[in-house]
Amino acid sequence: MRVSVRLILALIAGVTLVTFLFARSEVDSEKRGLRSDLERRAEVLGDIVAEDVGPIETAGPRERLQQRRLQQIVERFGNRERLVGAAVYDLQGELLAVSSKVAEEIAQEPAVTEQVKRQDREGGSFLQAGNKTMHVFVMPLTGDAGVTGKLVILHDASYIQAQSVAIWRQAVWHVLLQVLIITTITMLIVRWSIVGPLAKTAQWLRELRAGRRSPPPQTSGDLIGPLSHEVISIARSLVAARAAAEEEARLREAGESVWTADRLRIHVLSKLQNGRLFVVSNREPYEHVIGDKGIEVRVPASGLVTALEPVLVACDGTWIAHGAGSADTQTVDRHDRLRVPPERPQYTLRRVWLSQEEEDGYYYGFSNEGLWPLCHIAHTRPIFRKGDWDRYQSANAKFARAVLEEMERTEEPFVLVQDYHFALLPRMIKEARPETRVGIFWHIPWPNPQAFGICPWEKELLDGLLGADLIGFHTQSHCNYFLETIDSCLESRIDREHFAVNRGGHRTLVKPFPISVALSDGSDDAHQPLLPDRAALFRQLGVEAAFMGIGVDRIDYTKGILERFRGIERFFEKNPGYREKFTFIQIGAPSRTRIKSYSDLMAETEWEAERINERFRAGNWRPIVFLKRHHSHREIEAYYRAAHVCLVTSLHDGMNLVAKEFVASRDDDQGALILSGFTGASRELRDAIIVNPYDTEALADAIRTALDMDPAERNARMQRMRRVVKEHNIYRWAASLIAELSEIRIDQPEKAAAVSS
Ligand code: G6P
Repeated sequence: MRVSVRLILALIAGVTLVTFLFARSEVDSEKRGLRSDLERRAEVLGDIVAEDVGPIETAGPRERLQQRRLQQIVERFGNRERLVGAAVYDLQGELLAVSSKVAEEIAQEPAVTEQVKRQDREGGSFLQAGNKTMHVFVMPLTGDAGVTGKLVILHDASYIQAQSVAIWRQAVWHVLLQVLIITTITMLIVRWSIVGPLAKTAQWLRELRAGRRSPPPQTSGDLIGPLSHEVISIARSLVAARAAAEEEARLREAGESVWTADRLRIHVLSKLQNGRLFVVSNREPYEHVIGDKGIEVRVPASGLVTALEPVLVACDGTWIAHGAGSADTQTVDRHDRLRVPPERPQYTLRRVWLSQEEEDGYYYGFSNEGLWPLCHIAHTRPIFRKGDWDRYQSANAKFARAVLEEMERTEEPFVLVQDYHFALLPRMIKEARPETRVGIFWHIPWPNPQAFGICPWEKELLDGLLGADLIGFHTQSHCNYFLETIDSCLESRIDREHFAVNRGGHRTLVKPFPISVALSDGSDDAHQPLLPDRAALFRQLGVEAAFMGIGVDRIDYTKGILERFRGIERFFEKNPGYREKFTFIQIGAPSRTRIKSYSDLMAETEWEAERINERFRAGNWRPIVFLKRHHSHREIEAYYRAAHVCLVTSLHDGMNLVAKEFVASRDDDQGALILSGFTGASRELRDAIIVNPYDTEALADAIRTALDMDPAERNARMQRMRRVVKEHNIYRWAASLIAELSEIRIDQPEKAAAVSS
């Protein structure tokens, strides 16, 4: 039997039972009330009649006279509501007087006379006479000589039964009405909240099974909402697993070996075995800030999240980072931890707090005014202050303590340190927990030994780095420069065959791992841009143009934004035909603005954009739109997909993920990439139009080449670049880093020293 029918029948049975039980008790009490009421009335009436009747003369001359009087009295009481009448008997049970209706009843029902004869005391009783119920009230009549006769008052009590029947009938109607209402409501609830959502979910599952993807049904808030939610999650996982298996099979078939998130997950789990992964970076993957609508979560502008999140998700690791958001302290637990990503928590983020003084010295000062320009060689002088160096050391120690706390109960920890903010961290961790596998990835370029040599704490930095088992750079040339720097600065034995440094009994491997992005197949909702078409984007910006160029950067002097603008200006000088047709959109995320060179650059970038706009502006057209704010990945994706050309003109860049993100987003195989030859990405994306950003003339010509390129060629170039990004994707980067780290032989320590605070 269907559940809904069973539910309805159970409800009906329940309601009927309850209603009838109530009806029965009502009938009983009504009957009791009416009966006692009738008895009381009969009694009162009996008293009145008895008083009128007086003593009965049983012999003598007055007997006949009395008979007539009695008859008159009983007749008087014979015509009242529900009262049948009265009768007077002598002691022998002979009728002395009787009202007419009583006479009829007595004639038909001898039981009345029987009852009167039997009863000697005052009282009433109910008799069933045919289909009628009678109430017979008998009252002895007394005179001087004692009891002389009996007075009988007869009531028709059938109305009591009729009243009970009416109550039962009403109860039946109530039951019917309630059954109708309950059935309707139950049916509607079952339909809206259970059957409907289940049917929708089933239909969705059927379509998924048949390979058709459609958005999952909205069932939240319904009775089966949570269940449906779980079913949808499982179905999604199964579909993803099936897609991964199909992709694997397809790749095996095609002889390719593309890394996927699933493959990485299995790989990482097999490499870590019993170990756990800890990632340390200065920039956190999610920061909480106080915005207009309360606490908001933001993904900072950094390639780190794109690169590292899949690894952390794969093994449910822990990411330790500086809590820099204005609402960060409000969103952690008492151990300064929270689970992320916020919409689908899969790993732990541990926040480390820094005072303003620490942040100024370690982050703004030593890291970004010292090491950043030192490594980038972009003609901004590095500044080295002793105070900043002290803060850098203490901040590294603070992070080391946090890492050690997090891995306290882990027997085989893997630590992946990120970037130039933590050159001292590998040694600190290794000294405290020598069995830890420590790797550091240097995301920015490594300069030549002479350039690095200007740092007053060169030796200390190198010594800190060599605490690691593995040091990764984006390119082979960065590895070479690093080994040369070690060679020129420290006592060590360099094994050039295996690219390793042996020092103080410890061996550090140095290898290139070109970082990358994931290449979406477009099926993922998160990759669907907000505004997919170019016209809509231009409209939103209030610009009329036919061709779109895009640049996406943090406002940083290494990115060559001013050089790019000069190239665009020159392009319009040389190609007036493109005026009023081509608009370049520069998305610029404000960055490190407390540093003077950065705030100056921000002002200068705005000023340059304005100057060029003033020079060429016409009607609703402008050559440059400068969007100076943080944009989400989805917002940027819309521009990537709409642009004819993307400009990456870094003066020096370890890799540059914007170039790869642009390629990854072009699943239409359209769009041209202009790429600085001073980026790590230019080593891999050889089908980009490679430029020297300092060469304004060449840059202007590259824009023209990109816009005028034969569509077939543009297509072919993009296809080749996409193949490179697909094969050398972020999963492969993470997999090789973890694999390399897991294969390193760990020297077993004698004694672990604690990290000094
Ligand atoms: C570069 C660095 C990252 C850094 C990012 C953003 O890509 O290699 O470590 O996170 O810039 O800079 P910020 O100072 O804002 O973290």
